[in-house]
Amino acid sequence: MKKIAVITGVSGGLGAALAREFRRHDFLVIGLSRTPPSEGVVDEFVAADLTDPAFRESLVRDLTARFGRIDILINNAGIGAYATWEELDETALRRLFEIDFFAPVALVRAMMPLLTAASGTVVNISSVAASVPVACMGAYNAAKAALRLFSESLRPEVTGRGIHVVTVCPGRIETGFSRRALGGRKPPETPGHGSATAVGLARRVYRACAARRREVIYPAWYGWVMTFVRIFPGINEYANRKIWHLDHEN
Ligand SMILES: NC(=O)c1ccc[n+]([C@@H]2O[C@H](COP(=O)([O-])OP(=O)(O)OC[C@H]3O[C@@H](n4cnc5c(N)ncnc54)[C@H](OP(=O)(O)O)[C@@H]3O)[C@@H](O)[C@H]2O)c1
Repeated sequence: MKKIAVITGVSGGLGAALAREFRRHDFLVIGLSRTPPSEGVVDEFVAADLTDPAFRESLVRDLTARFGRIDILINNAGIGAYATWEELDETALRRLFEIDFFAPVALVRAMMPLLTAASGTVVNISSVAASVPVACMGAYNAAKAALRLFSESLRPEVTGRGIHVVTVCPGRIETGFSRRALGGRKPPETPGHGSATAVGLARRVYRACAARRREVIYPAWYGWVMTFVRIFPGINEYANRKIWHLDHEN
């Protein structure tokens, strides 16, 4: 029997690339999102709003009845927001946390028996933004930091039952993610993303799962950015004020 991978957010971007990569390695991929992916991205598509608790419960019931195990769960679905803390209304803030934080946590909790049965792996797609504060992206920063710490604190809780946890922190990869973000601001133009691609990220994630590594930072040089910002927070804050023209607004 093939190994089972459940991947959220497969309608495009990183999720579609992850689905293709795990299929290439002979996993049976069950993909979830509200809109379907292109033909051939997943073995099975389930149309789902992951923020709906009733849907999550019926999904887990169905997976339990059909397979009784899950080898890989990738919490990839997510959404961004471009707005200051003052601008972002509470409904949008809660919506962001529902998909970026509460849905992944709920899925892991509900799928724990299935993951245990397979000595499986949980992959949480956080972000470099979990460690690099960005003005007008504070809600996304906070949600991804919460997800990263969920991921890191979960690992020692589940290692004893054979479950592995991989935390993934991608830097910017062009997927159209910014265009789908909440909030009223337009993100500033940034320099090109170099060689970072969804396919490159997917390959790194597959290798990390196979080797049971704890973390993926992609591209790797973002690790230096994270360290730099921790040591020199004032430079990061200055750059943020300039990039978003915040000094002119206040
Ligand atoms: N691209 C980057 O630069 C970057 C960098 C760091 C981290 N990330 C993270 O990587 C993940 C994927 O991002 P991406 O760039 O591939 O973005 P994307 O192209 O916008 O894809 C996001 C995926 O999430 C799904 N989704 C959103 N809300 C959902 C909901 N309520 N229920 C079910 N599915 C939902 C979307 O599908 P539907 O809309 O069809 O439901 C889509 O498949 C996100 O968690 C993002 O925060 C991205």
